[in-house]
Amino acid sequence: MDGSAAAAMNNSVVVYGITGGIAAYKAPLVVRGLRALGIDVTVVMTESARQFVTPYTIQTISGNQVYTEMFSTVAASGFEIDHIALADRADCFLIAPATANFIAKLAHGIADDLLTTTALATRAPLLVCPSMNVNMLTNQATQDNLQTLQSRGIRILEPEAGELACGWEGQGRLPEPERIVAEVQHILSKKDFSGKNILITCGPTCEDIDPVRYITNRSTGKMGAALVEAACLRDARVTVISGPVHLKYAPWAEVIEVRSAREMLNQVNEHLVEADVLIMAAAVADFVPAQISERKIKKSGTGISSLDLAPSPDILSTLIPRKNAKIFIGFAAETESLLDNARQKMESKGLDMIVANQVGRKDTGFASDTNSGVILSPSGIMERFELIEKTDLAHKILDHVKDRL
Ligand code: CTP
Repeated sequence: MDGSAAAAMNNSVVVYGITGGIAAYKAPLVVRGLRALGIDVTVVMTESARQFVTPYTIQTISGNQVYTEMFSTVAASGFEIDHIALADRADCFLIAPATANFIAKLAHGIADDLLTTTALATRAPLLVCPSMNVNMLTNQATQDNLQTLQSRGIRILEPEAGELACGWEGQGRLPEPERIVAEVQHILSKKDFSGKNILITCGPTCEDIDPVRYITNRSTGKMGAALVEAACLRDARVTVISGPVHLKYAPWAEVIEVRSAREMLNQVNEHLVEADVLIMAAAVADFVPAQISERKIKKSGTGISSLDLAPSPDILSTLIPRKNAKIFIGFAAETESLLDNARQKMESKGLDMIVANQVGRKDTGFASDTNSGVILSPSGIMERFELIEKTDLAHKILDHVKDRL
């Protein structure tokens, strides 16, 4: 987890309700993931939940007392009433797994144990993560109850499909702990990009020589993925146009996969119209094979003694006439003359901002988790950064974008 995003989560309180489904075995990992973000986690467990995971395990991992009883002589704080104190303390109220029974009770305002009572009393945003047998999930009663919760603004994290503990195949699996933690992080993040559309290009492009061979570059898409996550967390609507990468983008983004510079150009052209901001983090090929052989080039034939290359279109330059009030941000990957090269690219490509990265060093640039360089605008240097986590750099870049929106 990056420093600034973790710092933003510090002092946030999640009240986490665990109900009695087999997926409760994932709960300790959810608690650990939340704590890794600096979130204070207080857990309430139903009686059934305690059949699957022990309060002692949860207490050890959360570092907080676990609440199980409606009527306890050990109150959350002094002589406060537990369910009200817990409900008031929450910045986010998470229930995972949420059984059909819990969902039914919440939908009908039934408060017959500590968890249901606390959930009814809280004014914090609720995130409900259903998990159950596929037939229980698709039962009209459960579907109606989920609909009711949704209509009240309660967030439902869709269960995943797959093999279920009960032996059935179908929808009903609790999403992985990382996914649940990400959803909580999304709820707790500041939402300073609400209503804004951001188009982000990521990764390398691959330029085919024949059906087997291609030329590409060292970009992994990490910087782009960090920007996608940061922008989604801050509530932007994010469209990603990605070259071939081996990483997962934040689950809230719409991802369009492309292969070549030409395909990337076509997709950027198509999606630019609705974008308020374009961030070109992709490492686009500058030269592509002049011809793509439809058949594999055999070494026994003429082979490949040289490759005929043609320049590819410079995507940013072609977009200058459509810029208008949109904010355009580019990246410059440089091994030398970082500032001069970046300034020149910013001018020639009509950018509002350029992020100049030092590449060619092991600890910074392509494939690494950190970057070193400078953020420039036409009026000068905005910020220098040295070995900064890409996730932190993503938030810094967005902070500068925010100032211009
Ligand atoms: N870029 C682009 N279209 C290309 C090549 C690059 O839109 N065909 C964008 C990149 O996404 C980046 C910026 O232009 O935001 C600068 O890319 P970079 O590779 O650093 O520079 P080039 O313009 O390709 O110049 P050079 O490779 O000579 O440094």
